[in-house]
Amino acid sequence: MRVLSGIQPSGSLHLGNYYGAIAQYLTRQESGDELFIFIADWHALTTTRDPAVLRRSIFEITAAYLALGLDPTRATLYRQSDIPEIQELAWILSCLAPMGLLERAHSYKDKVAKGIAASVGLFYYPVLMAADILTVSAEVVPVGKDQKQHLEIARDLAGKFNDSYGETLTLPEPEIPEIVAVVPGTDGQKMSKSYGNTIDIFADDAVLKKQVMGIVTDSKAKGDPLDPDSCNVFRLYELVANENQIVELAEKYKSGTIGYGDAKKALLEAIHTKFDSARTKYTELMQNTPELEKILTAGAKKTRTKAKETLAAVRQAVGLI
Ligand code: ADP
Ligand code: TRP
Repeated sequence: MRVLSGIQPSGSLHLGNYYGAIAQYLTRQESGDELFIFIADWHALTTTRDPAVLRRSIFEITAAYLALGLDPTRATLYRQSDIPEIQELAWILSCLAPMGLLERAHSYKDKVAKGIAASVGLFYYPVLMAADILTVSAEVVPVGKDQKQHLEIARDLAGKFNDSYGETLTLPEPEIPEIVAVVPGTDGQKMSKSYGNTIDIFADDAVLKKQVMGIVTDSKAKGDPLDPDSCNVFRLYELVANENQIVELAEKYKSGTIGYGDAKKALLEAIHTKFDSARTKYTELMQNTPELEKILTAGAKKTRTKAKETLAAVRQAVGLI
């Protein structure tokens, strides 16, 4: 299977990104799939205005991918803006994209409602995303549930292209893990950089502790039985801890033998156990950005070979050549 996915370099990587996206990339890598994993830096320009932050963020996501286990000898890691073919395909797709289809995009409406400028780029975002996917002829795209509609748009545009010009583009399937479809943030809403409710995998110890201890709970006192299913701390613990630990904590909740403070401490410890070796590796990688650059350049070279093939077929199909 050819698998593709990407993350925007627009902030620190959080538990939602890991369980909603990266964990699936790793599973795919283990099963020997052909993986294209990229850094969506053009997409980040829809919301980022600070060049220094963007530049750093590109390396942060690259280092995070590597620290968490993506292996450049098995997965192709690249930066979106190194592949000009994506822009060309995006333009061609935009000429087939009905305004109404994009006007219905939840992500666009949500972002504008949150105060992000309603730029042409933000509106065009799903077309660029479709081009990311279709340029490498991806068959499967692992993402969190929030990206489902964008995947539908990508399929729709590929279908329209094929209907107009003959079978050229591959229709991608989304892969959305149901159990962890939406990782809750510290306030119980979807964990997201734009809500300021994240738990950041590579934050300093003190920041990480502050984020975990700041998880919002109800006001039951220590000694009262607690309901694990409606508790954010427990829902996150279920993602990070192992089977036995989860059963144990659930029993303590139900019997009223643990308070929220101690539950948060257990969660923090579980996060350290799961991610500390990646955290150390990340710090090392961030000290050697030329090496990260090398990996991205090699990935871009491989991706462009594939992208050029797709664009040759597309140009031929539409009559540009
Ligand atoms: P954010 O919402 O923080 O800006 P991104 O949009 O950059 O995150 O998401 C990158 C990837 O991580 C996407 O595949 C997205 O679906 C996934 N993801 C982000 N937040 C969550 C979450 N809370 N639960 C599940 N998946 C998520
Ligand atoms: N829109 C995605 C997000 O915010 C990032 C992204 C851009 C992407 N292009 C993609 C994800 C192509 C999967 C495939 O998370």
